[in-house]
Amino acid sequence: VALLARAYRRALRSAGRELLAYGDPRGRPELRRALATMVASLRGVPAGDENVLVTRGSQMALDLVGRALVRPGDVIAVEAFGYRPAWEALRLAGARLVPLAVDGSGLDVAALEALADREPVRAVYLTPHHQYPTTVTLAASRRLALLDVARRRRIAVIEDDYDHEFHYEGRPVLPLASADRAGVVVHVGTLSKVLAPGLRIGFVVAPAPLVERLAALRTLVDRQGDHVVERAVAELIEDDEVQRHARRAKRAYRARRDALGAALERELAGTLSFRLPPGGMAVWARVAPGVDADRWADAAAAAGVLVQTARRFTFDGRARPYFRLGYAALDERELEEAVRRLARALPRRRPGSTDPRRNFRSAGRAAKTLS
Ligand SMILES: Cc1ncc(COP(=O)(O)O)c(C=O)c1O
Repeated sequence: VALLARAYRRALRSAGRELLAYGDPRGRPELRRALATMVASLRGVPAGDENVLVTRGSQMALDLVGRALVRPGDVIAVEAFGYRPAWEALRLAGARLVPLAVDGSGLDVAALEALADREPVRAVYLTPHHQYPTTVTLAASRRLALLDVARRRRIAVIEDDYDHEFHYEGRPVLPLASADRAGVVVHVGTLSKVLAPGLRIGFVVAPAPLVERLAALRTLVDRQGDHVVERAVAELIEDDEVQRHARRAKRAYRARRDALGAALERELAGTLSFRLPPGGMAVWARVAPGVDADRWADAAAAAGVLVQTARRFTFDGRARPYFRLGYAALDERELEEAVRRLARALPRRRPGSTDPRRNFRSAGRAAKTLS
């Protein structure tokens, strides 16, 4: 907050008149340049300023991309467990959404090809880095297959890379856009996770003509973003403050992930089965048979612990036996307390249900098929 306040004041003092006037609807040039440099150096996505549009969060980016690409009735494939706000924006643009299965390797790319055999597919929207909500990273073979299908079938790939900075295991996984030789990927990013969601800064990286088109659409609802904030944030990126903050946050989140994992093993082994996610900000856990996940979540909420159940993420809105447990916003002590309360809130099992411990041992297999 202190750094941002200083950068904001400096921006206003040094260029207030210009920043408070009408400006480029694509965003402040400094921020577009800083974001282009950032995605090129940290994400391997070749981009110049002309490829970047700054939006108010990725939600605006998804809305604009939908409106630019979709004609009423066009099919957009989405993940069967996924991010509902994106689906609703695409629907509003006139898309007919078709869900594709997600498993332990991410989106089922063969299912996309099978869908494209049956009818034209305009685009596919996905979260390949840490699939939302299951946290799975799209397998390397599937990434290549997806880009290949998209190129051959002329399907636009809308890549929502909302948490790029937070990968804890092994080398960073680069976005699909970094390997996109055919120009089919529209890369959507955000500073909501790495900096703050209230800043409302997201961005699109795409071929320049699409950026122009998106900017023209943007002016119809929002002439331009907050150029004072954009300039301040550009300075924080140029000064490496954002990256420094991201490195600190990454260390903290990794420790929180581990603390949550250990607490769940201690208090709820046999009832929740999960793999520690390779990155991201949540654990996706399977609830043992015989336990009503939604009733349990309601009881936990009454005890002050908010748990998201699978119903929130399923395309058909139906219940499935999974929890998404966010850990990034709580420290280790809070996480341990939250898990204790969650364990106390566990409803009694239905009689005759299978032994949950057996299910826990087969967690690897259970986690493979998510839908
Ligand atoms: C899958 C996904 N995409 C994007 C976002 C970020 O949205 P925004 O940039 O509009 O704040 C989120 C935030 O929760 C998300 O979960």
